[in-house]
Amino acid sequence: MGHLNERALLAHDPAAMAKSAKNPPRRQPAQPNAGDLLAWYDRHRRRLPWRALPGETPDPYAVWLSEIMLQQTTVTAVKPYYEKFLSLWPTVEDLAAAPVEAVMTAWAGLGYYARARNLYKCAGVVAREHGGRFPDTEEGLRALPGVGPYTAAAIAAIAFGHKAVVVDGNVERVMARLFAVTEPLPGCKAKLRELAASLTPDARAGDYAQGVMDLGATVCTPKSPACVICPWAVVCEARKQGIAESLPRKAKKQETPLKYGVAFWMVRADGCVALQRRPPKGLLGGMTEVPGSPWRTKAWSETEASAHQPVKAKWRALPGIVTHIFTHFRLEVRVLAANLTAAEAKACGEGVIWTPFAKTGEAGLPSIMAKVVKHAMKAIG
Ligand code: ADE
Repeated sequence: MGHLNERALLAHDPAAMAKSAKNPPRRQPAQPNAGDLLAWYDRHRRRLPWRALPGETPDPYAVWLSEIMLQQTTVTAVKPYYEKFLSLWPTVEDLAAAPVEAVMTAWAGLGYYARARNLYKCAGVVAREHGGRFPDTEEGLRALPGVGPYTAAAIAAIAFGHKAVVVDGNVERVMARLFAVTEPLPGCKAKLRELAASLTPDARAGDYAQGVMDLGATVCTPKSPACVICPWAVVCEARKQGIAESLPRKAKKQETPLKYGVAFWMVRADGCVALQRRPPKGLLGGMTEVPGSPWRTKAWSETEASAHQPVKAKWRALPGIVTHIFTHFRLEVRVLAANLTAAEAKACGEGVIWTPFAKTGEAGLPSIMAKVVKHAMKAIG
């Protein structure tokens, strides 16, 4: 018997009606709702170091730090960096008072180095202009360096409990499946945001946002989603249609361009190697590097590369290449090595940081440069 008919019949039977009020007929929800997701989150949330436990008050500094680190970066990669930063700089004032080089060095290896520069700037602004307290509105947060709409919404919801719509890649995937949105990304972004907004609850918006993220990371995964354990399984439109795994669709990507670079591995007689700091702006700005040519889309001939050698020396090409993938291009670096005489080393100038072999691991090298060092050390033995 359908649920409505049952109700209509009960309306004529007061005794049955009273019984039914105590034991209302169980009904499958037709629409996804935040309550089911929150109940799931309360049981299955990931224990992450930046998350306040139930009953604890979140620390906005910790939430902000974690959200900046989590931009385009996995939870697994972020955890050790988050712990390191909090132990080195437990408050926003501590971070603001640190030397910028120490912050860049501590960030080395996490990638997207503009985040570290903005993190430092932002700590300065909060410490000096806001008395060490983070603004508690999305608008106020968005005015801070390095805080975009996503991060502002995440901090407003997680740290301050405001109803803010938090949409990251996980949330987009869950919404696309829940409502069977078949238009490809990025075109359907606005629609997915509207759907996310329609589900965001007034209370516990931070838990709700993190719940959807956790669902996306652990259940509604890109491949082989575990629909049988999903709290929204019965209301998921893509599951009903058998298309969950194929969503969200993505518009065909442009091929990532390939760029080429040459690195100059210079070794002094005392076993020190030449490193230098990159200019503060641009890709890997302010980070330490092995000196090299610019990166360009045409491969370098040895003659062309030699125009960029830091000093005239007897170079030999090391076998093999170093490869790295950045967001917008792939990079192939060839390494030229030279043992420098004292005069050649001197001619390299003041900008060079002569670093003992054994200390290159502490030099705060971004991943591509750490690869170059490893490659050169291996080739030279
Ligand atoms: N990704 C970005 N923010 C996150 C959070 N608070 N928890 C888990 N994953 C995240």
